[in-house]
Amino acid sequence: MTCKPATELLLADDAGIARAAEVLRAGGLVAVPTETVYGLAARADSAEAVAKIYEAKGRPSFNPLIVHVRDEEQAARYADLPGAARSLAEAYWPGPLTLVLSLRQDAGLAPTVTAGLDTVALRAPAHPVMRALLKQIDFPLAAPSANRSGYISPTTAGHVLASLDGRIDLVLDGGPCEAGLESTIAAIRADGSVDVLRPGPIDLGDPAESSSIEAPGQLAQHYAPGKPVRLNARDSEPDEFMIGFGEMSGDCSLSEAGDLQEAAARLYDCLHQGAASEKPRIAVAPIPDDEVGKAINDRLRRAAA
Ligand code: TXA
Ligand code: MG
Repeated sequence: MTCKPATELLLADDAGIARAAEVLRAGGLVAVPTETVYGLAARADSAEAVAKIYEAKGRPSFNPLIVHVRDEEQAARYADLPGAARSLAEAYWPGPLTLVLSLRQDAGLAPTVTAGLDTVALRAPAHPVMRALLKQIDFPLAAPSANRSGYISPTTAGHVLASLDGRIDLVLDGGPCEAGLESTIAAIRADGSVDVLRPGPIDLGDPAESSSIEAPGQLAQHYAPGKPVRLNARDSEPDEFMIGFGEMSGDCSLSEAGDLQEAAARLYDCLHQGAASEKPRIAVAPIPDDEVGKAINDRLRRAAA
């Protein structure tokens, strides 16, 4: 008889963070809160540790991971940072911005982190728990969102356990994530131009058409609640779990005040509730397509695809 290994759940206090550092040093998997979503972290310099991320998530091996660093100085050990990258890092790090940069030949990262590409995605997160953790370790952390591949991203420790309990070593509970949507991803080209690959909390413009090919994780279907999702719904059928916004109420509201920041922070929780509901379908009220609303609509389109 095989026994399902238990996943430890700890509060993200000093003792919890110290334990997480120990598990990570030994090559284990830890779900850690960030300001965007919970990440599933492993040491990025170990092929064995990184392989466990793909295994636990059921993630296709062609989809590269984001590497989390303390700051620009640590980032420069793994990638070339041209002027455009330095300006963006100075403006937005620590924060919800990921930069895709040329991988340094001497980076020493596991090749599976970048799925064999000659670029690497780097981000310096702002969440105090992730920052405290990165200070205690001398390696960077590969961390995709802490959910089964293709499923709704996690913004609470409960969401992580619902998806990955028994498949990872530890979850650090730091409460709900503030931004609630994954980081904006921007590729810095050799000529210094910037292409947005994934819209997110920081508005750097709209993604180019071709970005779906370049960011392989940007699949048309993603963030899927496992049942049909109807968008721009102005009313709901009795068998639909209604996700409201502003004056449109529902079984769950993204923001009664019609605030887009609040809606971003609540999006995945409402989708998780809709997924868990007995109703077979989900309907979502229209969300204005400006500011972070663009990133919300990007995620909703993929959830509905
Ligand atoms: O906010 C976030 O970014 C969260 C937290 C945990 O930091 N992480 C996250 O990771 O959203 P994940 O794995 O769910 O999404 C990473 C995205 C994928 O779409 C992947 O294809 C893209 O980043 N990516 C990673 N490396 C890349 C590269 N070298 N070139 C282009 N896209 C890359
Ligand atoms: Mg993800």
